[in-house]
Amino acid sequence: MNRVKILDREFDLSIPEEKLLKAVDQVAERINKDLDGKNPLMICVLNGSFMFASDLMKRLTIACEISFVKLSSYSGTGSTGTVKEIIGLNQDIKDRTVVLLEDIVDTGLTIINTVEQVKQMGPADVRVATMLFKPDACKRDVKLDYVGMDIPNDFIVGYGLDYDGYGRNLKDIYTVVE
Ligand code: IMP
Repeated sequence: MNRVKILDREFDLSIPEEKLLKAVDQVAERINKDLDGKNPLMICVLNGSFMFASDLMKRLTIACEISFVKLSSYSGTGSTGTVKEIIGLNQDIKDRTVVLLEDIVDTGLTIINTVEQVKQMGPADVRVATMLFKPDACKRDVKLDYVGMDIPNDFIVGYGLDYDGYGRNLKDIYTVVE
């Protein structure tokens, strides 16, 4: 399937599953090495990162836990723009090593806000693992500890990422046809 139609747009295959999984292997290898003995809590930021989180967890061999959070659609405006509040984190993360799992870092706004909020809960360490990163879109100073792969600044779907709710189920990644 080299081209798919989702709603009103067409998308071309750009990153096959095999390549995505190799990138996940590499992220897992580094986390296994870095966080052995730290009992990290992985926090999957829904919805987009469910596939990355699942593939990553299967490759982690260290003792770890996972929790799932969502970001509220809107909750006021802060210095970096719209601040989305983390909801669903019922676990005490004080003095824990936390790894935020993101599908994609685009402008960087979401992850910067999320890290800020998590830090206020008193963890020992907060790290970020993102499957994808758009360096040309991200003009902010954002610390990404683990990046699956850098991608061009184009709109994509698949592997958990959606276009208006659709396309999350695609196992490969597709790029919009302009
Ligand atoms: P940021 O705040 O600009 O870094 O955007 C992060 C969020 O925007 C991600 O968690 C995605 O939900 C969404 N997003 C950014 N780029 C894309 C894309 O190319 N396709 C689908 N969703 C995207």
